[in-house]
Amino acid sequence: MDYRLVMEQIKGLLETDQHFIPVMSNVSALLMENLEEINWVGFYLMREGRLVVGPFQGKLACIHIEVGRGVCGTAVRDKAVLRVDNVHEFPGHIACDSASNSEIVLPIQRGEIVLAVLDIDSPLLKRFSLEDEKGLKKIADLLAERMTGL
Ligand code: SME
Repeated sequence: MDYRLVMEQIKGLLETDQHFIPVMSNVSALLMENLEEINWVGFYLMREGRLVVGPFQGKLACIHIEVGRGVCGTAVRDKAVLRVDNVHEFPGHIACDSASNSEIVLPIQRGEIVLAVLDIDSPLLKRFSLEDEKGLKKIADLLAERMTGL
């Protein structure tokens, strides 16, 4: 994926509206269209101390994830990007779509506060490279800086 081009498109979206619902909805559509070999992309929002599913593209997802559980909850607890080459080897991985084999989760964070996570699943093992991580981190950081209402 051309991360530079996608970043420009996201900046364009943010010029129209900064509220998290339109931004996250369009960013998940944009990533689903541009990232090859993925089967789920979307956001979980921090609400009352746990993650709740937000705008996404893909199959039905689990609604609540506790901090410390699954890949998403672990990324929140550790305030770290998690790039998992094989989700079946990740202790406590939560399988929403049985087709998923690898996953990347990026916290959307202001300072020490995690507001949400961006979660992407792939049916391929080792789908996400360091280059993907760097490009997606720039997107997550831009969203953290510019989105409102979270
Ligand atoms: N696999 C995630 C759960 C969310 S779904 O992939 C959409 C996890 O282990 O946290």
